[in-house]
Amino acid sequence: MERSKHIAVAGKGGTGKTTTAALLIRYLIENKKGSILAVDADPNSNLNEALGVKVENTISNILVDVKKNNVPTGMTKQTYLELKLHQSLTETKYYDLLVMGGPQGPGCYCFPTELLKKHIDVLDNNYDYMVIDNEAGMEHISRETIENVDILLLISDPTAKGVRTVGRIYELAKSLKINIGEAYIIITKTEDASDLQNEIDATGLKLLGVVPNDPLVAEYDLKGKPLMDLPEDSPAVRATREIFGKLKL
Ligand SMILES: Nc1ncnc2c1ncn2[C@@H]1O[C@H](COP(=O)(O)OP(=O)(O)O)[C@@H](O)[C@H]1O
Ligand SMILES: [Mg+2]
Repeated sequence: MERSKHIAVAGKGGTGKTTTAALLIRYLIENKKGSILAVDADPNSNLNEALGVKVENTISNILVDVKKNNVPTGMTKQTYLELKLHQSLTETKYYDLLVMGGPQGPGCYCFPTELLKKHIDVLDNNYDYMVIDNEAGMEHISRETIENVDILLLISDPTAKGVRTVGRIYELAKSLKINIGEAYIIITKTEDASDLQNEIDATGLKLLGVVPNDPLVAEYDLKGKPLMDLPEDSPAVRATREIFGKLKL
C-alpha cells in the first residue's frame, strides 16, 4: 500500500501555522480529497481546538506513563506501549488526529522513538493525507519519526524578519535527513506581500499566496471556536481555498 501524502506546516510561533493546518484540513474535507491523518507535532499548539475536537491521549503522556512503569502486570513495556499508541488516535467522522504533546523532561523520547516511527509508518498507509502542524524547529521531523515531506508550507508574518526566519527554517529542513518535495512560503495577516518580494527571493522559496488579516480567525481562536465553523466567505477561508487550489493535492 502507498503511504499518505505528507503536507507539513512550519514557521515561527504565532505566524498562523495551526490556522493554516486547520484550514487545509477543512479544504481537503470540503473537496472530498480523501482520508486525513492530522498530526499535532507542536507542543504549544492547539490544533484540536482549531479543528473542534477533544483529545484524551497525547503521545508524550503515554510515554511518561510507560516510563513511570505504570505497566499492567503480565504485559511487557513494549506491548503496553503499542496498545496505548493505538488508543492515542482521536477518530472523527472526517479525519483522525494524533497529538504528540509536550516534551516531558530530557531523554523522554529516547526509548520509544523507533516504536513511534513504526506506529506512524503503519498509520501512514491508512490515509490519503497526513497534515502535520510543526513546531518551529520541526522536531518530530528531525527526530526522523517522519522522514518524507511532500509539500512543505512555511508560514511567515508580513515582515522582513519573519521571511528571513522562514528562510532559516527552510535551510534547517534541507540539512536534516528528510526528503522535501515542494516547498512554499505563505505570508499571513496581509493583503499584499509585494514589498517583501526581495526577501522572499533570497530564501529560494516560491510565494504560494497571502492570507489577509481576518478578525474572525482571531476571534474564533480567542473563544476556542473551531475554524471549521468559519463562514465560507470569510477572508481567510477564501484566501486559503485559492492557495490550496494551486497545490497538486
Ligand atoms: N489570517 C489571520 N488573520 C487574523 N488573525 C490570524 C490569522 N492567522 C492567524 N491569526 C491569529 O494569530 C494567532 C496565531 O495563529 P496560529 O495559527 O495559532 O499560529 P501558530 O500556530 O503559528 O502559532 C492566533 O490568535 C490566530 O487566531
Ligand atoms: Mg500552532
